[in-house]
Parts: sequence; C-alpha cells; structure tokens
Amino acid sequence: MPNVLVLPGDGIGVEITPEAVKVLEAVLKDHATKLNFEYGLIGGAAIDEVGKALPDATLAAAQAADAILLGSVGGPKWDTLPAPQRPELGGLLAIRKALGLFANIRPVKMLPMLVEASTLRTEVVKNVDLVVLRELTGGLYFGEKGRGTNPRSAFDTLVYTEEEIKRIVELGFQTAVKRRKKLCSVDKANVLESSRFWREITLEVAKNYPEVELTHMYVDNAAMQLVRLPEQFDVIVTENMFGDILTDLASMLMGSIGMISSASLNGSKGLYEPAHGSAPDIAGKNIANPLATILSGALMLRYSFGLEDEAQKIERAIERVLQEGYRTPDLAKPGDKVLGTREMGNAVVEALK
Ligand code: NAI
Ligand code: MG
Repeated sequence: MPNVLVLPGDGIGVEITPEAVKVLEAVLKDHATKLNFEYGLIGGAAIDEVGKALPDATLAAAQAADAILLGSVGGPKWDTLPAPQRPELGGLLAIRKALGLFANIRPVKMLPMLVEASTLRTEVVKNVDLVVLRELTGGLYFGEKGRGTNPRSAFDTLVYTEEEIKRIVELGFQTAVKRRKKLCSVDKANVLESSRFWREITLEVAKNYPEVELTHMYVDNAAMQLVRLPEQFDVIVTENMFGDILTDLASMLMGSIGMISSASLNGSKGLYEPAHGSAPDIAGKNIANPLATILSGALMLRYSFGLEDEAQKIERAIERVLQEGYRTPDLAKPGDKVLGTREMGNAVVEALK
C-alpha cells in the first residue's frame, strides 16, 4: 500500500488537508489501490512541538513516503524568528530542497462556472488554460543571503547552474509537447545576468524540440500579459521567485487563490500543496476554500500514482459541486449557496458517488 505523508502545517493548513484526505479516500473506496496516510509536523506547529520547522523525523518520513500532501506553513506567531528558523525557510523551503523537488507545476484553468467569480471580465478569463512551471529549488530563494554593517545592508543572490535550468526547461518543453506546443520562458534578461544565462540554456534545449513554439518574455511584461490576454499562454517556465509571484497573480484568473493547486516533483517523488499560504486572517473559522488542496490530491493521483481516471473523477466532482452553485466565501457572489471548508469537502465526496 503506498504511503502518503500528510503535513497539515499551520493556519488553514490544518483545516484544508483533512478535506483532501477525505476526498482521496472516497475516490479510491472501490479501487484496488488504497493509500495509507501518515501524519507529520512541519512549520510553526513543528517549532512549537519540537523546536524545529523541519524535524528530522518529518524529513525521514518524507524520504520514505511515496507522496506528500502539505497544507501551508507560517503565521505571525513565528515572524520574529531569524529567517532560517522560520516555518517558510526552515520548514517548507528546506523540505523542497532536501527532496530535490525542483519542478513546481501549477495548472491555471478557468472553470466555466467560475467566470463570474473572477475580478476580471468574462471575455478575458473564459478561455484561460495554462500551466506554470516554477523552478523550485534554486534561484533567488536559495542563493547566498546575509546582512552587512556600515552601511547597514542586506543581500540575496540569484544563482542558477546550467543543470538546474536545463532540467526545468526540458520539463517545460515536454509539457508543451503534450499540450498546445507553446512554451513561454519568462525571465528578466534585459537586466539580470542569470536571466541571460537562462535564455542561452533555453535556446540550447529548444534544439531538441523543434515542434514547440518557444517565446521569451520579460517578467514585468508577463505580469501585464497575464491580465491583458491570458489565453495567449500555454506553458510558462520561469525562475523560482518570478513563478511565485506570477502564480498568485494567475490564481485570480481562476476566481480565487483558493483554486490554485500544485505538484512539486523530482521524478515520481512528489509533494502536493495548494499554492496559497496559511491565511492567518481566516484560520480556524471553517471558511477557507479547500478546493486547491483537494485538486492537489488529484495531481498526486495523476503524477505519483498514475491514477489518471481517479484524478479526473475528483476534478469532475468539483465541477459538479460548483455547477450546482455551491461556493466557499472567497468565490461566492450574491445568490450562491455558501459552504464552509468541511461542508465543501463533504459536497465533493457526495458528488463522487
Ligand atoms: P496567503 O496565501 O496565506 O493569503 C493571502 C490572502 O488570500 C489572504 O487574504 C487569505 O485569507 C486568502 N486565502 C489564501 N488561501 C485561501 C483559501 N484557501 N481560501 C480562501 N482564502 C484564501 O498569503 P499571506 O497572507 O501573504 O501569507 C500568510 C502566511 O502564509 C505567511 O506566514 C506566509 O509566509 C505563509 N505562506 C506560506 C506558503 C506555503 O505554505 N506554501 C505560501 C505563501 C505564504
Ligand atoms: Mg507564494
């Protein structure tokens, strides 16, 4: 039986992960494959319990697990700790790095029944169907960082090796081959040397994929194009921080940040989590949208276990629930039937039947 390590983390992470587990159990109820769920500590919860954002036991369990389902980490309670000890750097970034999860896949697809939930006009968002591939274990978040005195200063470094760029860009091309065969590499090559290098390597890799139409775009323009004409994009591949920022932006093309799921992969090893954070402003109120986490569970079935039919069953069930007018508050318009976190999870389970 495959082992799934569940790491709820902090804030709404504790509320949304049980809903995804519930849905995964329901979809596999009559299936030969069953998942064994184990639980671990990460983030602020782990700091409080054992004094470390990524306890050794959690890392060992993650290394042994077939897949990992993560909620979210962080919150004001731990914000004053030195950066390396904080839930985000010491927990989340540390586990991504330790497991070599370099490829972060974030699908951005507008569901027809959610066009009204977007803050953008219907004609802008109705055809959105793109994937962002965010490099996850290098770049600005992992380069040398530090502080200086006289003058008081601080620095972060954006470094990429050829190999790091190659493997994510190659995955970008491979993803594009299976879709509309368009890859947009987003960088800041007009200013950053690391981006000029990224472009060079991308052009080298492109020689192996003549059937894919490759374009390059500066990240500032990409941010603008994503809200101007998002349907122009098929697959976007980009640096760690650029991908972080652009996917929060892109989540609004789907109506809410509570809809954006992700898979972080290193071969078949995968960590699955919503792209949003721990949302301290709404934590503990049973109002967070669990769908991004439930959708991340579907990605787990797809990428870690090859259960494509079951992944699609979850996606269809979510569409049915939304079609019936059920919404969590982040997606709700007047007249919608508003559900809490748990009730939305239950509704997806019901729709699977
Ligand atoms: P956030 O993504 O947690 O929240 C941004 C806004 O979106 C908030 O208004 C929140 O209520 C809303 N939101 C987020 N997820 C939602 C959901 N599922 N349903 C409904 N509304 C939702 O980002 P923020 O506020 O910048 O960060 C809060 C904490 O989370 C910080 O400690 C941050 O470092 C951490 N964080 C952790 C991440 C992770 O674990 N992967 C990613 C991003 C931030
Ligand atoms: Mg983010």
